[in-house]
Order: sequence, then structure tokens, then C-alpha cells
Amino acid sequence: MTDLYPQRSAGVGLRLQHLAQVLRDRPAAAWFEVHPENFLANPHAAEMLEAIAALYPVSVHSVGISAGSVGGIDRTHVARIRSLVARLDPILLSGHLAWSTHDGDYLNDLLPLPYHAESLGVICDHIAEIQDALGMVFHLENPSNYLGFADSTMTETAFLGEIVRRTGCRLLCDVSNIHVSAHNLGYDARRYIDELPADAIGELHLGGFEVEAEAGGGSVIIDTHARPIAPEAWDLYAYAIARFGRRPTLIEWDSAIPSLDRLLAEAGKADAVAAAAEREVRHAVTV
Ligand SMILES: [Fe+2]
Repeated sequence: MTDLYPQRSAGVGLRLQHLAQVLRDRPAAAWFEVHPENFLANPHAAEMLEAIAALYPVSVHSVGISAGSVGGIDRTHVARIRSLVARLDPILLSGHLAWSTHDGDYLNDLLPLPYHAESLGVICDHIAEIQDALGMVFHLENPSNYLGFADSTMTETAFLGEIVRRTGCRLLCDVSNIHVSAHNLGYDARRYIDELPADAIGELHLGGFEVEAEAGGGSVIIDTHARPIAPEAWDLYAYAIARFGRRPTLIEWDSAIPSLDRLLAEAGKADAVAAAAEREVRHAVTV
């Protein structure tokens, strides 16, 4: 049987400031993930990226495809991503369960949507259109949540599972986002992982977050991608590996970006945590 996800080692996000270093030093990175939006209006960076894609596996993760927009997806933007995909031949294509455009206005945020029959129909149509246009399976990422919608009629995991069933897309499981959402909305993060369709998980994300105290007591966790991965997220990652098996895992660090060596060290830690989780599963099976 063909291995759909041969990239067993963790990769890192490729940022503009590291392009020249990667081409010059050829570091021992397993793979890189890129946001196409950083390269579409920057021909020089896109040329460097194309050279890197000839050396390393690359995953394309769009932060602007806005699959959840009720007004339809921006076909011009999708066409631009298609031309980049043709140059990179990526191993994975992904984006968010979110929306960020409305009436031609672009918002610099990944905004949430309610989970009900109407929104399900909208996002399934858009994912089918994206997959047709780009000729690749789309991996849909679970969001970090700070609020829930009173008119949602489905849980997030049921909503994601139904999208997979209807469109044939797969899921990008952001383990840190699950921790953030579970804390902010008061549910059990491990149960959320148990409810996801394991066979549909094609990639995992890990990112740093900040805990902020609230005025009335308690705390909210903000998904900042500006810090090392927290111990709680490493624990949940080990649980996810035990449940899903090894999947390509990305270290996300998008602001206050450290050195490339620091990023690669974090990817090495992800590999060590995943290998230990796999050993524990094997040990549990054999005793
Ligand atoms: Fe993510």
C-alpha cells in the first residue's frame, strides 16, 4: 500500500528571512511549509522558493483562501495559488476552517463560523471548488476558538467529519489549537482528538501560545505562534500520535521568529516526542 504521508520527520515554517540561508547552507530540514500569500507579490522570493522546492519537500498552507466565506471564494486568488503550486509541486495543500473576506474586503484575521447545515453546505462547495481548481486534496485545519456560536447545531468535530465525508478532503489537526480552544471554551482536548476521524488526519501543527489573565478571574489562551511549544501541547501531541500514528508535523512560529537553528531544534523535539509516543503504543500492544 502506498504511504500517503512519507514525511515522518517534523518540518518547519519557511519564512522570508530564512530563504537565503536555506539555499546557502542546505540545513538538515525534513520539509518546509510556506504561506503562498508571502510569495505571490514577491517574484524574487518566489524564485528562491522554487529553488528550495527543488531541494526539499514543500507544503503549501494558504492563510487567505477563506474557504468559509459565505460570499464565495476569491477565484483570482485561487488561480494565483494554482500557478505557484504548479511551480512547487507541493507534498501537501492546506488551509483553515475560517473566513477572512467579505464583499471584496480582506480582513487580516481567520474568523470563525457557526456549525450548522447552511454553513456546512457553503464550506463543502468551496472545498470541492478549491480541490478541483488546484488538482490536490485539501487539508482543512481546525481553528483556535475564543467563542462559540449560539446557533451552532453540530460540534466542531462532527462538522469536520461531515466535510471530510462529503468532499473527500482531509484534515490538518492543529494540536495547539485544540488545547487553546478546549481551555477557552471549556471542553476536553483529548476527547476532541478521540472524536476526529483518524484516517483523515494528514498533517499535524504545533505552535506557541500565550496565557492571559482575565479581569474577573480565570484566563484566556491566545494562539500567537510567537513562543516555543508549551508542555501541555507536547503532552497532547504525544496523545495525538498515539491515536493517529505518525503524520507530517509542522512547527509554526510566525512572529518573533527565532533563528532557523532554533526552529529546527523544535522540530527535532517533535520527532523525539513522536518516537517516544510510538514506542509506548508498541509496548502497550506487546505486554
Ligand atoms: Fe496551525
